[in-house]
Amino acid sequence: MTENLNNYEFLPKNDYLLLKTFNLGFKNKQILIIIINREKSLNAVNIDILKSLINILKHVENDSNILSIILTGAGNKAFIAGADIKSMNTYHPEDAYKYSVLGQDLVKLINSFDKPVIAAINGYALGGGCEIATACHLRYASENSIFGQPEVKLGIIAGWGGTVNLKRVIGLGNATKLLISGDTINSDEALKVGLVNMVFPLENFLQSVIKEVKSFCKNSPNAIKNTLLSINSFNNDDPYKKESNLFRDSFKHEDSSIGLSAFLRKEKPEFK
Ligand code: CAA
Repeated sequence: MTENLNNYEFLPKNDYLLLKTFNLGFKNKQILIIIINREKSLNAVNIDILKSLINILKHVENDSNILSIILTGAGNKAFIAGADIKSMNTYHPEDAYKYSVLGQDLVKLINSFDKPVIAAINGYALGGGCEIATACHLRYASENSIFGQPEVKLGIIAGWGGTVNLKRVIGLGNATKLLISGDTINSDEALKVGLVNMVFPLENFLQSVIKEVKSFCKNSPNAIKNTLLSINSFNNDDPYKKESNLFRDSFKHEDSSIGLSAFLRKEKPEFK
């Protein structure tokens, strides 16, 4: 099935993203597949990738031929291993705040998107990667996937909606456990707590996801749109802003430089 993928032309180009379409075989309707293409860094997401993802989604919102979007990672080791720790290591607290708000712009756009956005999780979904997956409407995982919010091990907090969205998906207790322990869970555990909808073998994983997505693309796009808008119209007193403020605060504390730089030196952090 993946042999039937065509290129989706979108300008400006970004080498970090591959865009493919799967033709649904009726009225020129398609599924757009967005592949984060930074395999050597386990598809860690940087500012350029965040900005491009936002641009692409805004563009696709107006393309009536695209019925659904699948977001996945290049290779078979990682979906997204988080925000790019190499760039964050030198962040001033105000840079951290802006990075948090930009990541939240993406997750809010996905939250409120009126076409189904599906995370096809093919390996590590950590930190910002878990947060982007959590923002998606559905999550399908390959059996080798690993999920977690390890930010606390880096001396920082989740900054792309993790403290807002995870509890909606897996409940307050499960979310708190993941967010304060920094522990990881595998695909079976993620299925048990409701973090993923289904688990598939790694072999032919994307084909399995496309098959699932195809099955609901037969339904009314307008009814799906209104269902998504209704399900996701949760209201709150701007918890995103609160999270960005706290993300900035964590960069004011020495634990952030201890944790982030220890990761880059491939050492264990010693927090004071
Ligand atoms: N940012 C930047 N680079 C990353 C990265 C990240 N989040 N995760 C992995 N990489 C890089 C590694 O630095 C390494 O690069 P080099 O070859 O240049 O050293 C390369 O990807 C391969 O990684 P490893 O050698 O570490 O691979 P591994 O198989 O031994 O371990 C892993 C895999 C357990 C996922 C490990 O890479 C890891 O722990 N990554 C960090 C995960 C993490 O902490 N994510 C949260 C980031 S903070 C965040 O996301 C904040 C937020 O909420 C916005």
